[in-house]
Amino acid sequence: MKVNHIGYLVKHFEKSKKSFLNLGYKVISEDTHDQIRHVDICFLEKDHYVIELVSPYDKESVVAGMLKKYKNMPYHICYEVDDLDQAIEELESVGYAAIGEPECAPAFDNRKVIFLMNANSGMIELLESN
Ligand code: NI
Repeated sequence: MKVNHIGYLVKHFEKSKKSFLNLGYKVISEDTHDQIRHVDICFLEKDHYVIELVSPYDKESVVAGMLKKYKNMPYHICYEVDDLDQAIEELESVGYAAIGEPECAPAFDNRKVIFLMNANSGMIELLESN
């Protein structure tokens, strides 16, 4: 399991992007308009740390509710795994609960991702390696 990025929930996509650029981050992706999750996404990098800005574009978004509570906050760490099903099984055996089923992520060339919750470490994302 290798860290791929830290997901950052933000309210104003363009304003947040600019604020991160002012900290010395560089944009390393095109913007993705993810119509599965109703979010805008882009990736930024600084000192080999990659962060993902995630911003709901309407109330249908899976993270719209979360944004009301936690504005402009890191909210998940994404780990890249070779075998998604195996990783899910292993993590479920140690107290992680999958949120839904693996789904395609347009921001990752439609590689599959899944989110899991754990009471003590919060939310994580798993991304299948390509
Ligand atoms: Ni993510």
